[in-house]
Amino acid sequence: MKKIQIINGPNLNLLGKREPAVYGSATFESYLEKLRKAYPDCEISYYQSNIEGELINKIHEVGFNYAGIILNAGAYTHTSIALHDAIKSVETPVIEVHISNVHARESFRHHSMLSAACKGVIVGFGMDSYRLALEAFIASDKLDNLA
Ligand code: DQA
Repeated sequence: MKKIQIINGPNLNLLGKREPAVYGSATFESYLEKLRKAYPDCEISYYQSNIEGELINKIHEVGFNYAGIILNAGAYTHTSIALHDAIKSVETPVIEVHISNVHARESFRHHSMLSAACKGVIVGFGMDSYRLALEAFIASDKLDNLA
């Protein structure tokens, strides 16, 4: 079983209620249930915190024994050198995701402090951004297995 950790940062506990025109009206928990059903071969763990240091602690905790981390750091994406350093400190590859297309929004959302430390970035596909990130972790293996 491939172990994948999803980490959501500040205000993402309010998905479903928070600015539904931007983030949709589904809760993350209902999305996660579907994702787990669709990918029974992955062990998908989920963690959310509004606190920067707790996000860092979680990256340290899983970052040496999980196959991948899918990180939506919310607004810390745009500010946090500490999260950048945490991503660089661990072995597990991290994919940065965003639900909204941050590049079509306010200019303060255009820059990410995290992207350069990540394996890749998936932006703007709604909640499906998480599934696409999961696919990215799985698909690289699929092609290896064909060789
Ligand atoms: C977000 C985009 C960020 O700019 C914002 O602060 C969030 C959510 C997204 O998923 O679209 O909290 O990361």
